[in-house]
Amino acid sequence: MSYAADVNVCLDRILESTDLSGLTKKDATLFTKRLEAHFPSLFEKYTYVYGHQYDCYYHLQKLVETLRDGIKKRKPALKKLDENRLKSPLWYRDENQVGLACYVDLMGPTLNDLHKRIPYYKALGVTYLHLMPLYDAPAGDSDGGYAVSDYRKVNPILGTTEDLEKLADALLKEGINLVLDFVFNHTSDEHRWAKAALEGERQYQNYYYMYDDRTIPDQYEQTLREIFPQVRRGSFTFNEQMQKWVWTTFNSFQWDLNYSNPEVFNAITSEMLFLANIGSAALRLDALAFIWKEMGTNCENQEKAHVLIQAFTCCLEIAAPAVVFKSEAIVHPDEVNKYIGSDECKLSYNPLLMALLWNSLATRKTRLLTRSMQKSFPIADDCTWVNYVRCHDDIGWTFDDNVAQELGINGHDHRFFLNQFFTGRFEGSFANGVPFAENPSNGDCRVCGSLASLCGLESALQNGDSKGVEEAVSRMLLLYGITFSIGGIPLLYSSDEIAKLNDYSYRNDETKQHDDRWVNRIAVTPEDISLAMGEVNRELSQQEEASVKVFNGLQHMLEIRKSNAVFGKAKTFILEASNQHCFAFLRENEHGEKLLVLSNFSEYPQQVDGEILTTLGRNPGEDLLSSVHFKGDESVITLRPFQQLWIKGA
Ligand code: GLC
Ligand code: GLC
Repeated sequence: MSYAADVNVCLDRILESTDLSGLTKKDATLFTKRLEAHFPSLFEKYTYVYGHQYDCYYHLQKLVETLRDGIKKRKPALKKLDENRLKSPLWYRDENQVGLACYVDLMGPTLNDLHKRIPYYKALGVTYLHLMPLYDAPAGDSDGGYAVSDYRKVNPILGTTEDLEKLADALLKEGINLVLDFVFNHTSDEHRWAKAALEGERQYQNYYYMYDDRTIPDQYEQTLREIFPQVRRGSFTFNEQMQKWVWTTFNSFQWDLNYSNPEVFNAITSEMLFLANIGSAALRLDALAFIWKEMGTNCENQEKAHVLIQAFTCCLEIAAPAVVFKSEAIVHPDEVNKYIGSDECKLSYNPLLMALLWNSLATRKTRLLTRSMQKSFPIADDCTWVNYVRCHDDIGWTFDDNVAQELGINGHDHRFFLNQFFTGRFEGSFANGVPFAENPSNGDCRVCGSLASLCGLESALQNGDSKGVEEAVSRMLLLYGITFSIGGIPLLYSSDEIAKLNDYSYRNDETKQHDDRWVNRIAVTPEDISLAMGEVNRELSQQEEASVKVFNGLQHMLEIRKSNAVFGKAKTFILEASNQHCFAFLRENEHGEKLLVLSNFSEYPQQVDGEILTTLGRNPGEDLLSSVHFKGDESVITLRPFQQLWIKGA
């Protein structure tokens, strides 16, 4: 019997015994049609991972029931959205897209308050709003909400699930997509599954990885990386109540889910569909690299992690096709790219671009950026990057050591330099970063800090250095300019858009002081918003002036982005800029529109050979940022310190 027949027989049997009577006729037809299209793929993935388990088909049947329930609960407006998105699936490649990530409490402080922030989002052109994890979580330290106790309950401090749905509707009406976290690698130790496990229920203990003694944990730990060595060594936590070692990749209160158990896959799919049905357009797959464990490996980026994500994608295609996944893989660039694909994550953070923009600011050199982007920037046409300069986490220097080696850069030593530079320990550094997760065994560390503080605004203000302030503002706009033009959704991280400095107050908070990432989780107050929106009529401090300049600079760039199709669906070619301080790329769309972007990473004027204008056919062009015209025959192009040109070909 052929394999294809197997699948069809399986689907027939499942459908025979699945009760569709709770669905409307239309939904039942839709469901069956979607199953016919996507079940074969789901079947292949599911049986690849679970086929050797005797109850695989039982769980597969249950999964189909979960998907049915997902469709049943999906609101008509979202079903309409499903239809529209299926007709024009590439919304995320549009020039119109601009993202913002923010914590509800730091901008609200509640979900209901966020309605009042919509004009601010609109002023920034936001179309994609990522609200940081807002689910019920342990009181005190909850890893910034990434320890979820109940996916279906909004943290009462922030509001209710109804509030969230109301906000999602209001945002949608304004053309803003809601993006939520899908924290599926682990739950908090207060999730009801964890509580049942604590009570000794075997079924729920099997939802996690638990061991009676150190034998197996010791074997795994020989090859595991430590993620938060500053709070706990190793990847396991001993639980007194159960007298067991629990797998905890991150904090001790974040228990890794056991995806070798199909029941876990099904249970979490049900939670995923709940989040999809709230009205989220994209789900951010938190810590997705860690979901599959394989003895003798570092248990990151394992093949079956991919297969599982592909299986989740099939589930979305069946029950909520308007929703796409965004990958949060902060790992080696080759591994980052493997999560991107139409059958996996259509969106992905671009941690390599992020890290190397910072590298170029520190070194004033662009070779590593250029070479790395040439290698890693191209991805499938139906996928897109989410380009960012800062987020709520630390900066990890995830570049490819082999690429660095080819340029004569020693990866290990260079990371040491970058850490020194951005924590301000390197003489002459402009940055005020904070070291994060220093590993006492190997000296590894990462860097935290706000965009403004890392770009030099904090130290310039402290030293009353006006030129330094100006340079810091230029650095911020330079980085933003690249993320707005290189191709993908630019994602702002709230408080950076107004250049707020590091917030050190976490050091006085017992629940936060051990986690320096709080230095860059900063409130945006109604006063900040009034300032940014130009509603403050008094003399501004130097710091306020810098805020306004950054905000206005952003608005200017975003307006240009939105009114030129070449920033949307277009190819990106990373060019050699003929000057080691400059970075260059060309965008070209299917209508033949072209944009040449040149950036100067140094505090001195730099010249780029006019030869680069041949990419625009030596035709006349205009820098969209300054409205300066180019004839096309220039023999050199001169860029001011930190200047960026967006030359649009005629
Ligand atoms: C992701 C989040 C980070 C969190 C970790 C564990 O990396 O961005 O903030 O600590 O996952 O959930
Ligand atoms: C590690 C993980 C990443 C996470 C970060 C949190 O770098 O790879 O997923 O965001 O830790 O600090």
